[in-house]
Amino acid sequence: MKSFRSAILLALLVGLCIGGAAPARAGSGTPEDPWIIGMSQCNLAEPWRAQMNKDIADAAAAHPEVRAIFKDAQNDTLVQRQHIEEFVNQGVDVLLVSPKEAVPLTEPVARAYQAGIPVMVLDRRIMGDQYTTFIGADNKLIGQAVGRWIARQTGGTGNIVELKGLMTSTPGQDRHSGFLKGIEGTDLKVIFEADMEWLEPKARQEMESALARFPDIDVVYGHNDPAAHGAYLAARAAGRADEMIFVGIDALPHEGKRYVEEGILDASFEYPTGGREAVATAVEILLGKEAPKEIVLPSRFFTADNVKDNGLWLEEAGLIDMPGEEPSNLEPNQPVIEERLRIGEEVGEDIKELPTD
Ligand code: FRU
Repeated sequence: MKSFRSAILLALLVGLCIGGAAPARAGSGTPEDPWIIGMSQCNLAEPWRAQMNKDIADAAAAHPEVRAIFKDAQNDTLVQRQHIEEFVNQGVDVLLVSPKEAVPLTEPVARAYQAGIPVMVLDRRIMGDQYTTFIGADNKLIGQAVGRWIARQTGGTGNIVELKGLMTSTPGQDRHSGFLKGIEGTDLKVIFEADMEWLEPKARQEMESALARFPDIDVVYGHNDPAAHGAYLAARAAGRADEMIFVGIDALPHEGKRYVEEGILDASFEYPTGGREAVATAVEILLGKEAPKEIVLPSRFFTADNVKDNGLWLEEAGLIDMPGEEPSNLEPNQPVIEERLRIGEEVGEDIKELPTD
């Protein structure tokens, strides 16, 4: 009985310590005791994410006052939620998160932010405004630029296969809606679309189905370069690669850009990782400066014509209207919100009740 009572007392004390105060800070910003930047990466199996982590590690290495530590959720949302909680309990000085999907990661990010940790969301968005800074390129504008470029290349007519990124992540949604806007008013038609979840093997499989069903395919639009490459391999295996053009997004030097140089892809649109900007902004925040809520990164594109000159900016090529315009993906995105509520229910949390400040 006595030990039961002391166990309760201990639990209460621990509860008070954990629940009560803001988390202790990890470092003090000196080379001997650096500030800790915790980076929650949703998945490291793709080259683009390996590049993002490398950009963060390289940028942090140039700042002896910070140290970056990494966790890889291996494309598992629940594991990523857990990683974020671990970083919060550890009391990292800044948290970076590149979330797998918007809805289920909203809540743990909001809790980290409310615990007083500056949180920077990278590349894929979460819902609401419970984070310090978002850094990423404008996926709606990129999607729109892809659409306009394809319209120019094809004279505005033809059949398109669209291999979409994970549609519970905001880049997948925005690259799709932006693209539809880009081909608006043309005779281009999306005859087949599938969610390849950002994965090359899945894209290849979906392309095999598209090839089996459609004798006339003029364009493949992959939401990332692995998808466009997977589709190319499927078309080549079917002896049909020469009948169509292949367009992807990311343009890593050793991936999409190289595919363009090799004539595998007809175009690749750059999707900067934001890793360096994230560290620079984290350092500013740690030095007590105010960070902007949104940092929108510009994007280039590469084709056989311009790849030797290191690509062209989308504005330069007239593929987006107004440089400096408000980023188009700041508006509330209804399908994402609905998805948020649905998945929120599934994982047993009431997102509608999330405290806002
Ligand atoms: C990597 C990736 C990139 C894509 C980005 C979108 O996981 O699929 O290819 O551009 O995520 O968030």
